[in-house]
Amino acid sequence: MTRRILIAGNWKMNLNLASALELVAGLQKEAAGVSSVDIAVCPPSLYVQPVAAALKGSNIGVGAQNAYFEKDGAYTGELSMAMLCDVGCQYVILGHSERRNIMGESSEMVNLKTHAVLAAGLIPIVCVGELLKEREAGQTENVVRRQFDGSFSGISADDMKKCVIAYEPVWAIGTGRVATPDQAEEVHLAIRKMIEKNYSKEVAEAVRIQYGGSVNDKNAQEILAKPNVDGALVGGASLKVEPFMGIIRSA
Ligand code: PGA
Repeated sequence: MTRRILIAGNWKMNLNLASALELVAGLQKEAAGVSSVDIAVCPPSLYVQPVAAALKGSNIGVGAQNAYFEKDGAYTGELSMAMLCDVGCQYVILGHSERRNIMGESSEMVNLKTHAVLAAGLIPIVCVGELLKEREAGQTENVVRRQFDGSFSGISADDMKKCVIAYEPVWAIGTGRVATPDQAEEVHLAIRKMIEKNYSKEVAEAVRIQYGGSVNDKNAQEILAKPNVDGALVGGASLKVEPFMGIIRSA
């Protein structure tokens, strides 16, 4: 089973329309010949449409950073999965630690959203990861298991195969303190075993598990070389063409 590497840029609440379009124009040019790696950018919701329009027909996909699980109705400030599909979006990041920790999003909420993303034919990138104090208390695997079990509850084996999991240790996000390749591999392997336990070896082998947390063009190659690391979810280093392309090239 060969899993295609997925390098996704999580722009978070950065850039403006002009700089976003400039960035994707640069990426499109530089990444034109890349066929062995899946690439995606995840702009702020407001820019998903213009970025998807700019990237139409290219080898770079577009994702959202969040969306709501209900189909439509009185949910002020929210966007539905169908709306994202409508404007050419293919991926949705779910349960990012900034949403879990700042917006109070629970694994139950992530689970409802995972079901909705899959029902809409989109690909969820579901984030899991421990806080520094949880790692120091030896709780990493327990925390990740709780998030995994909660987020994927009731997801069928066929749907599970389509999911992407991003292991993002919270202490490594935006801190410049990247997990070592061995630390990443250890948790990625543990996650794959969780999938195997809840589903089967076949499903576990199909699911892509990205690493995220201070990935840049200097450290990407070593991390991506690990057998259970199937890509990267990149924050800061995805905001400029060169570092993001560097990560893509190392893959
Ligand atoms: P970072 O963010 O690369 O800036 O650490 C990663 C993420 O939060 O997805």
